[in-house]
Amino acid sequence: MAQLVPVDTFDLIIIGGSGDLALRKLLPALYHRNCDQQITAESRIIAVSRAEMTRDEYVDSVRAALLSSLGSIDEIKFSNFANRLNYLHFDVLDLSCWSPLSKLLQGREDIIRAIYLATPPSLFGPVAQGFKENGLMTENMRIVLEKPVGDNYAAAKAINDEVGACFPENQIFRIDHYLGKETVQNLLALRFGNSLFEPLWRREVVDHVQITVAEDLGVDNRVEFYDEIGALRDMVQNHLLQLVCLVAMEAPSSLDHEAVRDEKLKVLRALKPVTDAMVKSNTVRARYAPGAIDGTAVPGYAEQLKTKSQTETFVALKVEIENWRWSGVPFYLRTGKRLPIKHSEIVIQFKPVPHAIFDEASYDTVPNRLSIMLQPDEGIKLTIMAKQPGPGGFDLKPVSLDLSFEETFGVHYPDSYERLIIEVMRGNPALFMRRDEIETAWKWIDNIIAGWRNSRQPLDSYVAGSWGPTASSTMLGRDDRAWQQD
Ligand code: BG6
Repeated sequence: MAQLVPVDTFDLIIIGGSGDLALRKLLPALYHRNCDQQITAESRIIAVSRAEMTRDEYVDSVRAALLSSLGSIDEIKFSNFANRLNYLHFDVLDLSCWSPLSKLLQGREDIIRAIYLATPPSLFGPVAQGFKENGLMTENMRIVLEKPVGDNYAAAKAINDEVGACFPENQIFRIDHYLGKETVQNLLALRFGNSLFEPLWRREVVDHVQITVAEDLGVDNRVEFYDEIGALRDMVQNHLLQLVCLVAMEAPSSLDHEAVRDEKLKVLRALKPVTDAMVKSNTVRARYAPGAIDGTAVPGYAEQLKTKSQTETFVALKVEIENWRWSGVPFYLRTGKRLPIKHSEIVIQFKPVPHAIFDEASYDTVPNRLSIMLQPDEGIKLTIMAKQPGPGGFDLKPVSLDLSFEETFGVHYPDSYERLIIEVMRGNPALFMRRDEIETAWKWIDNIIAGWRNSRQPLDSYVAGSWGPTASSTMLGRDDRAWQQD
């Protein structure tokens, strides 16, 4: 386990403090960091929400949320954590209601003041403005924006402008929780902490790249939010494109946050725009019909929603990167709800050998493949061809060199929010998205959405519990390729 260094004393104000994200992710993350003594005794968490409840009732709801995710809690540790919790209920849009918060923050201007906006993006600008107009701005401040920052380029730009009118860019932390995942960070270690892969990481050797982020869960109680968004905006605009960036970027000159983000931005800018003419061949959109996951019957999306929306729960894309390193190497991306298992993986598929010297009639040649498993079983697997033992012929067989991070390091990986919140307190924006990254990604996504609209591409369907519609396999089949799970 890397050494844990406590962070300086802070006041963390969570707007949307009684919501799903706060209770399911943020408070548990803070609880764990508190148990590991990374949070000083003087630090405070101030939850703000419109829900009318007392502080005690709020503490009870945090306890219930922890119990449901952990199964049991250590009462002494919980009471230590609960000491840091404060709760205020007011409508942040009503500037006349802010005085209890101002009073609570008074006299603590010298410590870190962080605001976490666990709210819909429409509140990002008004809350930033609220802090400014109530005289609550300090030197040592940060504001954290939960995704999505807008749902298209224009909306993202407007939000960035509004928040940017109150906070300088280096105090704005836009969350993509995938960047806090240990295995995603391991991609940087794999690529830039080893000299082995760099010479291979290019068009001359790599045939194509596959990125799969599969979820077995459906949209369940998030259906209203999700129906406005869909898989492309919910997952591809942020998580999958960030993975593309980390796989495809050039080596930054240092781990400095601007150096890393500059390189990621270059990849986003090099993405070939998906034109109306390309949407049919390079994109697949679909949504789940009734089916079964792990033997249990599950309803389809339309049955859950009971309306006629055209929202997709699955997307597959063929992405091209227009630069010297990657020209001609397709990146196939897919993500979906109600796929058979939760499974995220990046596959670097290398080219086959240029000339076969072994008798191919007696075995299947499998070109080398590097699989980077992101979740749930984090690790790296390199598939190579080896000779089958024995005095007979020279038969080859694919075997894999397997590395499980959990077995190797003997620790269970912490949730990404634990790391990200600590990085916010440290004031290190390297694991957060810069304004230009978000806006460039939205421009690229907006093209696809326009293409779907203009070409009237019909919404495909897949059985819940399958790997998506056949069109997804067909898209790779046209290029003589297949998804790894097909
Ligand atoms: C969120 C999406 O950003 O990521 C959800 O809004 C999705 O729809 C979730 O379920 C997946 O995150 P993870 O960490 O479980 O892969």
